[in-house]
Amino acid sequence: MDLKQAQELEGRFMVQTYGRHDVLFVRGHGVRLFDHEGNEYLDMAAGIAVNALGHSDPDMIRTIRDQAWNLVHVSNFFYTRPQIELAEALVKCSFADRVFFTNSGSEANETALKFARKWARRTHGADKNQVVAFTGAFHGRSMGALSLTHKQDYRDPFQPLLTGVHFAEFNDEESASEKITDETCAVFVEPVQGEGGVVPATSLFIQRLRQLCDRHNALLVFDEVQCGLGRTGSLWAHEPYGIAPDIMTLAKPLAGGLPIGVTLVREEVAAVIEKGEHGSTFGGGPVVCAAGKLTLARVKDPQLLQQVRENGQILREALENLPGDAVQDVRGAGLLIGVELSHEVKPLIQAALNHRLVLINAGPKVIRMCPPLTISAHQIEEAVTILSRCIADVWNSH
Ligand SMILES: Cc1ncc(COP(=O)(O)O)c(C=O)c1O
Repeated sequence: MDLKQAQELEGRFMVQTYGRHDVLFVRGHGVRLFDHEGNEYLDMAAGIAVNALGHSDPDMIRTIRDQAWNLVHVSNFFYTRPQIELAEALVKCSFADRVFFTNSGSEANETALKFARKWARRTHGADKNQVVAFTGAFHGRSMGALSLTHKQDYRDPFQPLLTGVHFAEFNDEESASEKITDETCAVFVEPVQGEGGVVPATSLFIQRLRQLCDRHNALLVFDEVQCGLGRTGSLWAHEPYGIAPDIMTLAKPLAGGLPIGVTLVREEVAAVIEKGEHGSTFGGGPVVCAAGKLTLARVKDPQLLQQVRENGQILREALENLPGDAVQDVRGAGLLIGVELSHEVKPLIQAALNHRLVLINAGPKVIRMCPPLTISAHQIEEAVTILSRCIADVWNSH
């Protein structure tokens, strides 16, 4: 199948939800991708912050292959080793006491929402059912997760959404204190907003959210689907804040590109969930959990985390030093960096692709840099050099 055929067939047989670039990828290796004609690309997106260990990591391939050879699926009516081992590994390196496995970030947030509702109902009564989320937030596309997602374009076509969700201003303590009340059961926040433009929460804001949740007996939920698991240079994005949540959700990078979601909870939350109240056919399957164990072991390695911090700094400085006045702001943490430009970035992303550099945006004017965590300083330099050339090309032709 070549690109033209792929476009024709996709246009004929698939629901048209995705705006796609004119590229047909067939292979990946490390931070490189290859299209159907053998052209080589440098990947500064890693899916959307997914391929933390890069493409076709040999250990990952071996792990998936070996597990598939032995057992791909049995229902959750039975015990399987990788699931239990990954649960133990996640609990041992986090605030959490227990975990629930799903298949995506949206589902991990749906689970958090359901658990928070049940916890509040059981401990404080049925009226404690309101939820607070923030402007710029992205928590997923399923109905519950979408109800917590702020962007009107994503929400409006599917109204009515879940009632009882209130949006406070992100990084605004006063706005949060107005919205969080005794009726609030949970407050959902991304320690670093991803889709919202790569915006880190301030320390003060996260501290205030913890205080407000404690004061009003609400659960603090950190959505680390995008920013967690080493991406920001610490295993958990919330670590530098010195604040622990009651629930945390993970997904994207955990299973090396295979679908997984996890909701990590404290014992008091887990304790209210009874057998049969929640479940998933595929959640916690042997193959994804074997892959998850490997990813977790690799991304919590202090050496890798230090490399993420150092290379993040190199990337940041290189971006700050881009010539011209197109760059308005560079922000983020570790290898999750947003570059805000003075113009819409769509033509820039296309120009970069023409120069075999894969970039993604986070909103109309922000380029989101989230390469594999294994990227080298040399490859970062290569990416920024191409970007610099593309900025000059696109802006000069404006
Ligand atoms: C912070 C955050 N939460 C949730 C999601 C939803 O995850 P998924 O697309 O796996 O459902 C995303 C996806 O981009 C995300 O960035």
